Amino acid sequence: MKAWRRLIRMTAAAAAAALVFSGCGASPGAGDIRIGVTVYDEYDTFISELMEDFMEDVAAVNAGELETPVSVVRSNAAQSQITQNEQVEQMIAKGCSVICVNLVDRTDPSMIIETAREADVPVIFFNRELVEEDLMSWNRLYYVGADAFESGRIQGRTAAAYIREHPETDRSGDGVIQYVVLEGEAGHQDSIVRSETSVNALIEEGVQIEKLESAIANWNRAQARNRMEQMIDSYGEGVELVLANNDDMALGAADAFDSREIPEEDRPAIIGIDGTKVGLEGVRNGKLIGTVYNDKEGQARAMLDLALAAATGEGMEDLPLTDGKYIRLPYSEITVDNISRFGEETP
Ligand code: BGC
Repeated sequence: MKAWRRLIRMTAAAAAAALVFSGCGASPGAGDIRIGVTVYDEYDTFISELMEDFMEDVAAVNAGELETPVSVVRSNAAQSQITQNEQVEQMIAKGCSVICVNLVDRTDPSMIIETAREADVPVIFFNRELVEEDLMSWNRLYYVGADAFESGRIQGRTAAAYIREHPETDRSGDGVIQYVVLEGEAGHQDSIVRSETSVNALIEEGVQIEKLESAIANWNRAQARNRMEQMIDSYGEGVELVLANNDDMALGAADAFDSREIPEEDRPAIIGIDGTKVGLEGVRNGKLIGTVYNDKEGQARAMLDLALAAATGEGMEDLPLTDGKYIRLPYSEITVDNISRFGEETP
């Protein structure tokens, strides 16, 4: 049984007692489960959709029979680790029972861990993965995310299947697919792993490939468009495949071909990762040959389940934790053939 479903059955008194047990800093109102959430950048498309799902889940819990209201204190770190460290301090001062952190700098969680540990407030890191050593440094730290290797593997295989079905992708007819990679942030686990694994998967699938260039575009559509325009200037119509670490950058690449008014038949196959609303639309309208579903609904739900369990000490055993620390949601392929299963219809 899900932790929060079980919680719905708890009485307010029991929940309040559990909260006292959790030993959080300043005391929240009796029975109030207060969750702090700080994100690295609220304008990131994937993160903003994940937060939408999270808030919907919180509303659903509050609309249920839960006698213990759940409230959320939200902050945007706006790409500053220093700001984020301060936000965590403030959340603890405001009596948050648990804090969810989308780290700005995934190599620098030490201040947050120290602050939370002193106040004995559990922390759930999500999406931007800290190194294992940091996660293991205290028993009330958790991580919710996905397996970056799987996303790259699926992206490479999906691209290979497309190329097999559409031999015209090799426009030059030289038997080799000339490709470029649009990478997310330098140092982000998903950029590093996706870029490498996706290419390896293409090779394993027997596709002959040649790398023209890879460019960092920080998950950002406008930056990807700029970088792609530069690559169009360098290679003309020589680019046959664009592997983008996320949908926003894949769409930025498509924007570049639009802005240069390059006809459809001279454009490369472009593939993303995420399955955001705009990404799904891109697959539906043919701008993208596919994407890889980064299960934000599942991640949001897992965060809430874990937050409620960690805050109350109830229901932890029902959660699919690996090593008592990690919850990773699986990725899946999205193409025009199965897209109706995603988006509004996604369970
Ligand atoms: C997503 C990106 C997002 C990044 C933020 C990745 O998992 O695929 O779209 O920008 O996380 O950390």
